[in-house]
Amino acid sequence: MNLSIIFSEETKTFHLSNQLVSYVIAIEEDRYLAHHYWGKRLNKVMSGADYPRRDFSHFANPHHVDHREFSLGTLLQEFPGADVGDHREYAYKYTDEKGHHANQLVYKSHEIFKGKKELEGLPHTYVTDEAQAETLEILVEDLITGMEATLSYTIFEKYPVITRSVKFKNQGKETLHLNRALSMSVDFWNADYDLLQLPGAWSREREVVRSPLVRGIHKLDSKRGTTSHTYQPFIGLLDPNTTEQAGDAYGFQFVYSGEFVGHVEVDSFSQTRIQLGINPEHFEWTLKPEDTFQTPEAVMVYSDEGLNGMSQAYHKLYQNHLIRGEHQHKERPVLINNWEGTYFDFTEDKILEMAETASELGIELFVLDDGWFGKRDDDTTSLGDWFIDRAKLPNGLKKLSEAIHDKGMQFGLWFEPEMISEESELYKKHPDWAIHTPNRPLSRGRHQLVIDFSRKEVRENILAQMKKILDEVPIDYIKWDYNRNMTELTSGEMTHRYMLGLYEVMEELVTSYPNILFESCSGGGGRYDPSMLYYMPQTWTSDNTDAAQRLEIQYGTTITMPVSSMGAHVSAVPNHQVNRITSLKMRGDVAMSGNLGYELDTTKLTNDEKETVKAQVEFYKKHRKLIQFGDFYRILSPYEGTNQTSWIFVSEDQSEALYSFFQIMDYANKPRPRLKLTGLDPNKIYQLSDGRVLGGDELMYRGIFLETDLVGDYQSYQIYLKELSES
Ligand code: DGJ
Repeated sequence: MNLSIIFSEETKTFHLSNQLVSYVIAIEEDRYLAHHYWGKRLNKVMSGADYPRRDFSHFANPHHVDHREFSLGTLLQEFPGADVGDHREYAYKYTDEKGHHANQLVYKSHEIFKGKKELEGLPHTYVTDEAQAETLEILVEDLITGMEATLSYTIFEKYPVITRSVKFKNQGKETLHLNRALSMSVDFWNADYDLLQLPGAWSREREVVRSPLVRGIHKLDSKRGTTSHTYQPFIGLLDPNTTEQAGDAYGFQFVYSGEFVGHVEVDSFSQTRIQLGINPEHFEWTLKPEDTFQTPEAVMVYSDEGLNGMSQAYHKLYQNHLIRGEHQHKERPVLINNWEGTYFDFTEDKILEMAETASELGIELFVLDDGWFGKRDDDTTSLGDWFIDRAKLPNGLKKLSEAIHDKGMQFGLWFEPEMISEESELYKKHPDWAIHTPNRPLSRGRHQLVIDFSRKEVRENILAQMKKILDEVPIDYIKWDYNRNMTELTSGEMTHRYMLGLYEVMEELVTSYPNILFESCSGGGGRYDPSMLYYMPQTWTSDNTDAAQRLEIQYGTTITMPVSSMGAHVSAVPNHQVNRITSLKMRGDVAMSGNLGYELDTTKLTNDEKETVKAQVEFYKKHRKLIQFGDFYRILSPYEGTNQTSWIFVSEDQSEALYSFFQIMDYANKPRPRLKLTGLDPNKIYQLSDGRVLGGDELMYRGIFLETDLVGDYQSYQIYLKELSES
């Protein structure tokens, strides 16, 4: 299907293309890798090196160019080095033992092959058949120090996606220190874009922030040891006219859960440089002769079909080429989690009572959250002591799990493996396992410390404790939590080695227990990044379960994350985070726009509420394949001040769809909204669940009014559409 990577000897260009996109790199001056084009597919690339030669005053010129008309400082580069004429943000820097670091890696050779290679020890997108992608590897070198790097570009057959990563190798005779090793850098010839970011905070994850680019350097980063709530490792560049449904959208996302940096630099010629990679702040990697360093992967998307086009490319790529294992395409169970229902205050009887009611409501999985281990009655103790608290669970976990299975439900368990409480048996034995700076007091977060997963003995201990439970207790699901940022970090290799250690443990667990469905969590969605999806197909989106704020959080989350990965729960009102009261219908409609769950004390539901929940669960089970794995389109944004949100799930063959509309505040005498659906087949006729029969074209182009006016704040309306026949 038009997938190809072509190198032209004549024009000295590499042309990566599929039916949707082209990406063109040229070799300028026989050595420098220049960025030439990225956008809608070109049939053929006929132009070659075309650096606009003119006297760029006050720019440095490489020594081999005996005129003033060529400078790396204005060249659109693919992988810029440091201190040799390009004074914009560089993509890498390495230093020799004397502290010299001026360098620019230049073209040596290249290789093109079908398929895609694995990334050692790191999460990465993959292919299951080599026809699904093609890869270009460009080897660049530094003849003075002997440093080499392989720049990898993979283009996928079906999606407008290019992935990039870099592998450095010290081919010289001296030790070199890698001080910066970003995964990608790309230069745009212009700056006529809006920047899209997804920053946030605890309980306010992935806010959609869009602003015009301005001159200067804009940086997104984490120096927190982890992705964190603060910035998502994502950058979007949008044509100012791009909407959800139309226009150019570029996306960049980093497949890594550690410290990252993203740069957006607009230079003095209004050229834009975008970069993503490991944050150099705490990073330094020693490369002895022959040593290598593999960077994590960055995923770059271009779509001319608006933000939804870009999002769907991410969703499909992650769903089909990042998420792995038994649960990859399996419908996700409806769960009940006891956290907001009981917090730490539960007994075995209470859990069984909740499970009993939940099973009567059709709920399929019981998740026992924090508080089942050590002596954990609040958040001050016991992390690291992964053995059962007999005071709460006198008959143990095995018996509890069996009793829950006897009710026809699955059983899931919460862990926070990377943490230690000072009040724990583990800390008494190994106080030095907590990440610390010698002789400096420790900063605590939620009363806890992070244990150093870069150390083998730490990983082995935690794995052994977890395996003991998993080997004894029938467990179908694990929620892996991580509730604080790192502090007192040491510069050098530690933070990246921590991530490699974490990935190693996760790999071991998911491959040893393939039947377990893993859900990642970090105080809600603080580590909701693509790398986690490689191990854990779903994530707890946010600790904020308020239906109104969830509209924003889920809207922002779907900018890159597939719906099948997004945990969403109905909780009690008044809501525990914002004290808001919303209807059970609205809470259900919002939560069933992701992986539906309940997080409340089911024994306290009234009979009417039970009937509503039962109906919600039944409806969701009927349509969850469409919701979790269909094409998802955002329509009305809660960020655009319309007081309304809407989205639609459409099956791949467009024969069915589920449309949801949400009204946040009600107003007297308000205009009636005319709702335009999207993603349908204009030539199909649909039967709507509210009784109407309408064409896909009418529904999308003319739009419809709601059958009933929504009265009151926090209201929702769902329409299920089924194809009647071809017109
Ligand atoms: C933070 C998570 O996001 C919550 O869902 C819950 O598991 C708590 N941790 C438990 O401590």
